[in-house]
Amino acid sequence: MTTIADTWGLHEGHFWLRGRRPEQPVGFDAATGMWNVFGYPETLRVLGDPGTFSSDTGRVLPSLEMSSEGVLTQMDPPAHGKLRKLVSHAFTPKVVADLEPRIAELTRELLDQVADPGRLELVTDLAYPLPVIVIAELLGVPPGDRHLFKQWVDKMFVNTQQFSLVDRSEEQERSVAVAMEQFKHLADYIGEHADERRRRPRADLLTKLVEAEVDGERLTRAEVVNFANILLVAGHITTTMLLGNTVVCLDAHPGQLARVREDRSAVPAAIEESLRFFSPFAAVGRVTNNDVELGGQHIPADQLLMVWIAAANRDPRQFADPDVFDPARDPNPHLGFGRGIHFCIGAPLARLEGKVALNLLLDRFPHLRTDPDEPPRFIPSPGMTGVRKLPLLTSGA
Ligand code: HEM
Repeated sequence: MTTIADTWGLHEGHFWLRGRRPEQPVGFDAATGMWNVFGYPETLRVLGDPGTFSSDTGRVLPSLEMSSEGVLTQMDPPAHGKLRKLVSHAFTPKVVADLEPRIAELTRELLDQVADPGRLELVTDLAYPLPVIVIAELLGVPPGDRHLFKQWVDKMFVNTQQFSLVDRSEEQERSVAVAMEQFKHLADYIGEHADERRRRPRADLLTKLVEAEVDGERLTRAEVVNFANILLVAGHITTTMLLGNTVVCLDAHPGQLARVREDRSAVPAAIEESLRFFSPFAAVGRVTNNDVELGGQHIPADQLLMVWIAAANRDPRQFADPDVFDPARDPNPHLGFGRGIHFCIGAPLARLEGKVALNLLLDRFPHLRTDPDEPPRFIPSPGMTGVRKLPLLTSGA
């Protein structure tokens, strides 16, 4: 069977995209000094037990000098729950649902601007600018500054090698330093805007974050900045990948594409299946707080785990015919947005953006398809699965 990964040359490390299974659901990788978790039940167990599997990965990566202050993804209970509750007050389901008309308007505007009538480069023309403008408007930072964010965020994900605790090569140290530098640029940028909102509140998410209060407590400046930072970075790359990947998956399955075109109520399920089949966020990190048995392995304390949710999403113990792209899969308990206390806070926004944009794309282009002469290109980073460039033909076949 030729898979999409073979056809378009995706990262070799992503064996699950090629219909291959791991030798074991959990294993130690001597080359990186880290444990890999590939199995679905094992992943569920890790994500469901933050007491044993901590998100504070920075503590075993001392040279990264990463502080977890206010970095929600790196925090453990009880501090995590407190901060999550605070930010949830600002980033509510209603705030997201109210964005639907604006997302549709922006999508139409962006598609109107496509210069070439027969072609579209999905990422540049729509999948990148749409979520960035949405999150920038929501936060209240000028969407016109998006060339700055892009410059910073692009530099964070240029590494093609899996990070290793063992082989601390100069190249790896350099790419980590570059990534940290970009976070600093973003933090400085957001920090200035947050300070301004403290002085002059506005009707935006940044102001809500600055003012959010639970049990008489407010977010510190670092917490506001770090959370806004995550939103800006996550708002950038993940939804871009989701939209692009869904188009790639449907393009490779013309029958499914025709069905979704005809019956738009199938769009959300196609997006869920794309999240399972081509999970944009391929892995999340955890650290063991104590010795633990997992997947038949004994893992000592203070070990770094790469939890490959993308591989777990292809585990035949959980999904029948895991290598078949089947939007009719019901239920579809994929782990594309994680699980447990760190479940993606942006999931409702990503789902909404994906649904609106895919519908409008299908409305406007009855003959949308990939261009065999100009194949899609994917983000080289092993922790990501997603298009970086997706040239599409739009005129009649
Ligand atoms: C398709 C799009 C997206 C995917 C696949 C995705 C995936 C994920 C995953 C797997 C996690 C869990 C991380 C962990 O357990 O360590 C997560 C957490 C998170 N995501 Fe997303 N995400 C997406 C879009 C977004 C968007 C659009 C935003 C915000 C605008 C966002 C904000 C966050 C935040 C703040 C967390 C941390 C939650 C916590 O630690 O409590 N994500 N995301």
